[in-house]
Amino acid sequence: MNPDTLKLIEASIKAIPDYPKPGILFRDITSLVEDAQAFKATIDLLTEHYRDQGITKIVGTEARGFIFGAPVACALGIGFVPVRKPGKLPRAVIEESYALEYGTDTLQMHTDAIVAGDKVLVVDDLLATGGTVDAAIKLIRRAGGTVADAAFVISLPELGGSARLSAAGVKVLALVE
Ligand code: PRP
Ligand code: ADE
Repeated sequence: MNPDTLKLIEASIKAIPDYPKPGILFRDITSLVEDAQAFKATIDLLTEHYRDQGITKIVGTEARGFIFGAPVACALGIGFVPVRKPGKLPRAVIEESYALEYGTDTLQMHTDAIVAGDKVLVVDDLLATGGTVDAAIKLIRRAGGTVADAAFVISLPELGGSARLSAAGVKVLALVE
């Protein structure tokens, strides 16, 4: 990946101290997606990295995973599966609960969104403890899919998410650390 492009992406991300709670340094991707060049570069890098790898679906986690996952799925010509917070999906769901860097939450996925034989890429904006994407991986595996890779714009390696997902047998890509 071109280092200048990665620097452009990194420079577009803002760090906000003490949000949403004291002690958290919040990495804000709204400034990235407001910058047309940085947003396009991010989608293009992820798309080229995962082209021709036999991926059949992208799963994105609510809410920021939707922003990056859906355009990459569209560019790869594959379907996008939203994994959502409780009460948002209208048909039968399976669910997993998980711990966050600043709280706990539950994620749900439509039972029929992933089928046996699907090879799934999970996309999210940021990897912290890995709890969110670990929950998504469990949902995909329960539905019969395989998860080879998880892609993030940002990883915070000191929070252990990358190690956690690797231990779960998933290859991690992050554009910025
Ligand atoms: C954030 C972020 C990731 C997750 C990372 O989402 O977008 O999904 O936390 O943390 P983890 O690796 O420790 O699980 P959040 O739950 O704040 O929801 P949002 O996207 O709706 O803001
Ligand atoms: N999600 C979990 N930890 C985060 C952080 N430090 N910045 C932005 N989103 C997050």
